[in-house]
Amino acid sequence: MIQFSDEKLKEVQRIIGFYPEGKQKSAVLPVLHLAQQEFGGWLSVATMDYVASLLQIEPIEVYEVATFFSMYNLKPVGKYMFEVCQTGPCMLNGSDNIIKYIGEKLGIKPGETSADGLFTLKTVECMAACGYAPMMQLGKHYREHLTKEKVDAIIDECRKNAELNN
Ligand code: FES
Repeated sequence: MIQFSDEKLKEVQRIIGFYPEGKQKSAVLPVLHLAQQEFGGWLSVATMDYVASLLQIEPIEVYEVATFFSMYNLKPVGKYMFEVCQTGPCMLNGSDNIIKYIGEKLGIKPGETSADGLFTLKTVECMAACGYAPMMQLGKHYREHLTKEKVDAIIDECRKNAELNN
């Protein structure tokens, strides 16, 4: 069942408190982030409906937001998500080759997750780090000036981390 812990419910109330009375809908972005973090890294319909009930808004108002922004995942994702920027400056610096290389190495296409459940490849739009193109986001960090060698090292690093945490 989709239900925040008491601690997280307090966090939801704290977030709602940032906005004027009756404007709790404005809290939808941070509450969706919290929900995604808490419920497996993605937003199921049940999770989005739960968020709608907490904010006392219609489910469609949550779906509209969750389907618009690429940072929300609408299906299960791998433990490590490679969000590779494909906007102009990154593309001019070879992001399409990087996307292709990652895809070939992991045997997946953008939007897919590797068979071992470790990696998801996602293409996203500009993340305001154009000076470091081509780049991607991995977890909370940016990985910049990507090359095939750097991609190899990042994948090895993730695999090692996954083994350590098993
Ligand atoms: Fe890739 Fe801006 S174009 S970060």
